[in-house]
Amino acid sequence: MAPVTLAPDVYWVGAKDPDLAIFDIVIPTECGTTYNAYLVRGGEKTALIDCVKRPFAGDLFRNISEIIPVEKIDYVVINHSEPDHSGALADLLERNPGVTVLLSRSAKTFVDNLVNAGFNYRIVNDDEELPLGGKTLKFINAPFLHWPDTILTYLVEDRILFPCDFLGAHYSSPEFFNDELREPDKAREAFEFYYATIMRPYKEYILKACGRLKGLPIGMIAPSHGPILRKDPLWYLAWYEERASVLSRVTERKVVVVYVSAYGNTAAMAAKVAEGVRAGGVVPVLINAVEVPMDGIIDEFETAAGFLIGTPTLNGNVPHPILNLIASLVFLNMKGKPASVFGSYGWSGEAIKTVQDILASMRLKVSPEPIRVRMAPSVADLAACVEFGKQFAAIVRGG
Ligand code: FEO
Repeated sequence: MAPVTLAPDVYWVGAKDPDLAIFDIVIPTECGTTYNAYLVRGGEKTALIDCVKRPFAGDLFRNISEIIPVEKIDYVVINHSEPDHSGALADLLERNPGVTVLLSRSAKTFVDNLVNAGFNYRIVNDDEELPLGGKTLKFINAPFLHWPDTILTYLVEDRILFPCDFLGAHYSSPEFFNDELREPDKAREAFEFYYATIMRPYKEYILKACGRLKGLPIGMIAPSHGPILRKDPLWYLAWYEERASVLSRVTERKVVVVYVSAYGNTAAMAAKVAEGVRAGGVVPVLINAVEVPMDGIIDEFETAAGFLIGTPTLNGNVPHPILNLIASLVFLNMKGKPASVFGSYGWSGEAIKTVQDILASMRLKVSPEPIRVRMAPSVADLAACVEFGKQFAAIVRGG
């Protein structure tokens, strides 16, 4: 893959990985991904912005070598030190031990542990500018997009933002720029999926970054994954800002009551729990997890003040739909929210305690104490479910 020009003396020198099926162990990548790295040649100095995943170091060096010998690079900017971008740094340092690594203080620790060797470095500060000779790099701190180490790099003269993962997409195609894609809808889906699976827990930091970028003239966005956003770059920023603004729609007036039920017993409990929540002055959203797509459930969780999970026990364990739901909570930041568990069981009812322990380990506030009922709930059991719902509503309302 030959280098591609973004602007005079600004090049894409990364690698494409169209066959990648799963990213980071858990994220399906139907369209593969790219590891975008960029070379900026100033009149006096040359900077590489981000590297690539280590197995693709050969591609990176081949592309760079078509423009300048790798040994001549003066700086390498580490916007973010996750190994899909910093993996090839160890090889770069071997070929060019004199290069200066520019990175955040937080990234320094990660990179130390990644390369396990000394290297020349400079911690860059928020708003710091680095002249390269006719080209100026400006660094913007943007922690938690999506690691604590993240910085964004802005090329002042060409108005190009290099935001690393932020605004990226796991999408590989023969084309490079968003205005030349043959399947723009697929790329758009990948962009939205990337937000949902990687950036979504960091909404408050997204809003901060969007605020910081407001005054900056941005003519192009060159992320570290997926197409380079040459057409309508600000649309992508606005999309992120709008999605992250869901934070302002979180309401203490809404609680999700989600359940599965084999024989209707946990369902009967769920209905009464929801009744109690409503009697406590909070709106319950009652969801049978086998009838609603996971995305829809997660959307409801995102704006709820808390949630209750109803689970039976199958073979001494938690049924898959509930396990999948809990696993999907990693895509949200639910820390500190109230939650609890209820359910009917036949033999020993382990699932309720298992879910309770998982929620506690996720640092949710598990209260009131879960309730469980053997087989079909009695009239008294159902009354207890109503009371349980009322208690939960009181907790959510700060009572
Ligand atoms: Fe693309 Fe967070 O690495």
